[in-house]
Amino acid sequence: MSKLFIKTFGCQMNEYDSSKMADVLKASHGYEVTSDPEAADLLLFNTCSVREKAQEKVFSELGKWKEWKEAKPGRVIGVGGCVASQEGEALAKRARIVDLVFGPQTLHRLPQLLEQTRSTHRPAVDIRFPEIEKFDNLPEPRAEGPSAFVSIMEGCSKYCTFCIVPYTRGEEMSRPLDDVLAEVSSLLDQGVREITLLGQNVNAYRGAMAGDGGTCDLALLIHILARFETLGRIRFTTSHPAEFSDSLIEAYAVEPKLASGVHLPVQSGSDRILGMMKRGYTQAQYLDKIRRLRQARPDLALSSDFIIGFPSETEEDFEQTMAMIDAARVDAAYSFIYSARPGTPAANLRDNISLDVKQQRLERLQTRIRQIGDEYARGLIGTTQKVLVEKTARNPGQLSGKTPCNRPLNFDGPASLIGQFVNIQVAEVLTNSLRGRLLGPAE
Ligand code: SAM
Ligand code: F3S
Repeated sequence: MSKLFIKTFGCQMNEYDSSKMADVLKASHGYEVTSDPEAADLLLFNTCSVREKAQEKVFSELGKWKEWKEAKPGRVIGVGGCVASQEGEALAKRARIVDLVFGPQTLHRLPQLLEQTRSTHRPAVDIRFPEIEKFDNLPEPRAEGPSAFVSIMEGCSKYCTFCIVPYTRGEEMSRPLDDVLAEVSSLLDQGVREITLLGQNVNAYRGAMAGDGGTCDLALLIHILARFETLGRIRFTTSHPAEFSDSLIEAYAVEPKLASGVHLPVQSGSDRILGMMKRGYTQAQYLDKIRRLRQARPDLALSSDFIIGFPSETEEDFEQTMAMIDAARVDAAYSFIYSARPGTPAANLRDNISLDVKQQRLERLQTRIRQIGDEYARGLIGTTQKVLVEKTARNPGQLSGKTPCNRPLNFDGPASLIGQFVNIQVAEVLTNSLRGRLLGPAE
């Protein structure tokens, strides 16, 4: 049996794509996934280029893989994802050990690329964006546990001035509604109870509907999915504030299956910086959406993304970000120092802030969000949370799941509960998780 090793960097979309690579190669060549690179015949690297550091990792990692290739010359090495998409042929020229270069939209062609490199003994490269063809060429989804991801759209057409994604993943493309429903049905038949809808800009979803030729947006999709009886919870990530429509906000008021955690990247609280980033909203507009979301769903948890030290960011701009964090009560975030990405409009701006200042700002922001996160978590003590039991926890005898607001929660219970919704009373806040007491089934 041939073995496949995949190393994944970056976002959840990449995690999803990696699982699809494994499915495609199992169906075509019978590859079994291994966690041991030494045992692998085919090694794939799914890359991220959103920041320079992530991109550098590709080449340092490939340096390590050189030895593995030399030890077993028949081994095939492939690079996929955003760095592959950006570099194309140049990647195979720079790293001679690479046999396959493929992009996020061509991973379904891996079997053909593999045959091509085997017969020509030359690198096989395919980084095109062939419409939505990818999804038509993937095998039936395989459920691994009670919670599953379903990608509903690809790419991004927002072109924020700092971001490489529209160039590496292409423009927004939505899967037809019927395709999404078929994938969800198949997962539900395999025992899945929770679906996370995925997209680089998931609330820009506009899926073609059969029949009248209309389109389905994310709010409508959520209402349609909620009608599947065995589907207990719906999540989505990652969304854009400008696409957070009134009907999507309304869904939080009327659809209990929609989870209470929202990830809504804001990037900055300064209107001047938001304008330079071309984000398409002001701080006041962002806060207004959050206010209305909390009206619809009072226990809402809000996570966000921040970029610190965008060119010309002043102390005043940064203070506005800090004020916005308090006003919106952001309780978790991915926050990084700005990284200039070649080819993006912002890369031409002068980076005039010292690394020291950027690091201090990042530290202040992260400390404040951690405080709000701790306060939020402590507020959960004594409450009853409906949790989907996902797996056994690391501590023997304990099970693990997530609250509606997406916090990991561990509790004592029998493994037979995996795959069911249970009520848990939160008892304790630990560093990265909650601990609670099982009250009983929640259905
Ligand atoms: N669709 C999402 C939105 O509404 O913003 C963002 C998806 S983006 C791939 C993920 C995150 O990467 C962004 O929210 C941003 O914070 C971060 N990011 C993107 N480009 C960056 C850059 N050049 N430097 C630092 N962080 C960056
Ligand atoms: Fe990037 Fe902005 Fe799209 S951050 S993924 S261009 S919404």
